Amino acid sequence: MANKFQMPRGTQDIMGEDVSLWLQVEDIIRKECEKYGYQEIRTPVFEHTEVFKFQNDSSDMVTKEMYTFTDSGERSLTLRPEGTKGIVRAFVEHKMYGNTAEFPYKLFYMGPMFRYERPQKGRYRQFHQFGVEAIGAKSPLLDAETIALGYDITRKMGIKSVQILINTLGDDESRDRYRTALKDHFRPYLPELCEDCRRRFEMNPLRILDCKVDREHPSFASAPVSQDYLNDSSREYFDRVLKALDDLGIPYVIDNRLVRGLDYYSNTVFEAVPVDAQGQQAAVFAGGQYDGLVEHYGGGQLPGVGFGMGLERMISLAREEGGIAPEVRETDAYVISMGNVGSYALKATQMLRDEGLKAETDYQGRSLKAQFKASDRVRAKVLVIIGEDEYKNNQVVIKNTESKEQFTADFDKLVETVKGIVGK
Ligand code: HAM
Repeated sequence: MANKFQMPRGTQDIMGEDVSLWLQVEDIIRKECEKYGYQEIRTPVFEHTEVFKFQNDSSDMVTKEMYTFTDSGERSLTLRPEGTKGIVRAFVEHKMYGNTAEFPYKLFYMGPMFRYERPQKGRYRQFHQFGVEAIGAKSPLLDAETIALGYDITRKMGIKSVQILINTLGDDESRDRYRTALKDHFRPYLPELCEDCRRRFEMNPLRILDCKVDREHPSFASAPVSQDYLNDSSREYFDRVLKALDDLGIPYVIDNRLVRGLDYYSNTVFEAVPVDAQGQQAAVFAGGQYDGLVEHYGGGQLPGVGFGMGLERMISLAREEGGIAPEVRETDAYVISMGNVGSYALKATQMLRDEGLKAETDYQGRSLKAQFKASDRVRAKVLVIIGEDEYKNNQVVIKNTESKEQFTADFDKLVETVKGIVGK
């Protein structure tokens, strides 16, 4: 039996120097989002189950992977498996759809998501997504800009290997035609296909193409491709997305088999994957255009487009490719105390902090050696040494750890002197 005092399978403790990586990534994301005019939104980590679960939803995420529970008030709640649905729910609930002058309404979010998946490298049960949703406008230019934002963030993180796979599912009419063609194609093979595929055949035949079990079945290689069922306007729309990507210099590969794992997409769909990626769990960000979601929550017929980015995958890829690196911990001053100096050392430390310096001290009357070691560990640039004589005379000893220079200064000159040494 699993040790209950260990973290649950598929979760991680993010700590130590890794935290600095997360902070850097979050910082890059916020800066990029600001440039593109996205505003942050923070929605609940759990929602009423109905927010995520639609009738006839065929995605694994909704049918198999949700953390759903009943609370003490007998409500069925679900930990969010993704960002989009909660964001669109909030968009409608707060009547953002009334603010047409602001369309597209650009929202971004960051936080933990939960899916009951089989954990492996890059796939967790609690993972973190950054995502964007631009709601209220539909344009090939907006689709291209959305991809550009994700791509920019990968570049800013020092990831060079990412390639955009792109496809179009077409508008309602095109998708209907494509669905019929897929059904006609797969019908004779149904007895040989897995149970999920048989369910998808009824609910959303497009998603058969996303099956991991039957991927190698001969019927898959000969399956019809969405491109052949596009009406003129859908084809033209897609061409304009590609043209815009060309103009922006964003490399992409058209992947006619790309259908995405979620049900709500129409028209443009995309996934950003490392060039040598094998297998589907490698996408670092993925998304697409959707026409029906806002209406589903009661907000009228408004389109949207967005993507979700897996931060664990981004961080691990950025590290592998020598992009971001953990920040080294540094301290401006370490205050060492010797003998009975009361709270004099703590007071000195606080004075430094008040002036914006990073300062640490000892609290336990440890040996001089132990305090020197501690100051080394935090890479202190300056040592402030206070013994009983200094305490009595209102003085401090200051040592520059780089030049090794050491001198006595008046207590009230402490901050000024340390600032001079560390250059702040
Ligand atoms: P998704 O493809 O399900 O799309 O997830 C987006 C990204 O989240 C994936 O490309 C991957 O980087 C990361 N991700 C997903 N599942 C896991 C996992 N179990 N462990 C680690 N990382 C994971 C969506 O979620 C849509 N809401 C995207 C979207 C936004 N479409 C339109 N707007």
